[in-house]
Amino acid sequence: MKYYRFLLPAFLLLSIIGRAQTKLTSFSPGAIWPDDKGVHINAHGGGILYNNGVYYWFGEHKIAGDAGNRAMVGVHCYSSKDLYNWKDEGISLSVSPDTTNDIAKGCILERPKVVYNKKTKKYVMWFHLELLGKGYSAARAGVAVSDKVTGPYKFIKSYRPNPGQMPFYPALTPEGDKINCVNPAHETDKFFCRDLPGGQMARDMTVFVDDDGKAYHVFSSEENYTLDLAELTPDYTGHTGKFIRIYIGHQTEAPALFKRNGIYYMIGSGCTGWAPNAARWFSAKSIWGPWTYHGNPCQGQDSKITYGGQSTHVLPVAGKKDAFIFIADKWAPKDAIDGRYLWLPISFKGDDIEISWVDNWNLDIFKK
Ligand code: GAL
Repeated sequence: MKYYRFLLPAFLLLSIIGRAQTKLTSFSPGAIWPDDKGVHINAHGGGILYNNGVYYWFGEHKIAGDAGNRAMVGVHCYSSKDLYNWKDEGISLSVSPDTTNDIAKGCILERPKVVYNKKTKKYVMWFHLELLGKGYSAARAGVAVSDKVTGPYKFIKSYRPNPGQMPFYPALTPEGDKINCVNPAHETDKFFCRDLPGGQMARDMTVFVDDDGKAYHVFSSEENYTLDLAELTPDYTGHTGKFIRIYIGHQTEAPALFKRNGIYYMIGSGCTGWAPNAARWFSAKSIWGPWTYHGNPCQGQDSKITYGGQSTHVLPVAGKKDAFIFIADKWAPKDAIDGRYLWLPISFKGDDIEISWVDNWNLDIFKK
């Protein structure tokens, strides 16, 4: 009889130990990544905002099957203080039940990125938007805002950026390097000139906020042949008309930007749909370029396919020097919800970067 007295405390102790065991202390790239409810994190093509000591991960909420490649729910948000354990904060931007709405349920809404505007005190979310039932033909940028980091975000507008605007060229750019719509030099220049009146196509994208508070929208344009880097307005909800074209004609997707020691870095991918390809990196001394192409930053086995992933974000770890995490999606287009996340440390060789596969790692790696 007396043993029964121990049953309840023993049960409580075991359940506490059970919970403690589920607390993660490392990254396992490509594995199922349970959130605080034990459910695989559902935030694909995502980006991370560090705000008041907390990381917020925003990404595409996908459902099962190939229907999950379309936006049936919206943008999912998670929060974390340690980057290993993520709390489900729910849906921060919901698709609309109205089929005529720009972000109608069943549209394609990809690669959401949230930034905080210190002047307006608003959180601004940009994403790649394809209108319902129109495949990938709309190629628009969409923007939504919120007073609260986790949302709900209010959709504002979607459009093709920079109508009627010619690119910005740094001083001393030779005339011959400038686009000429009367006599286009490259095949892809024709797409630029075709879209000049209505605005440039905007697909895979990211948003980057510089130290001076200026924000930039970087997106695949010109039928994905060229990347545009465009300045956002001071409130971050529109484009100023100032932009450059990067790596013209080479089909760069999945851009992710970061800055270290005054140098701007960008990692992107090639253009092969959901199938993985080799990553590529660029650097520049000024955000306005010139951006130098450096090839593939990945090393070792499967480096030619980015270990099965495609870049989506580079996360500077708060409070650590030279600590940047390369974040990629391992897509599962036949069962979209099963997409995995590859988080890998970036290492620096002088001003060059390298990425290598690690099965399991934690933030101590950056102390070395
Ligand atoms: C990828 C792109 C994804 C998605 C996909 C559709 O290249 O990076 O965001 O658009 O194509 O096939």
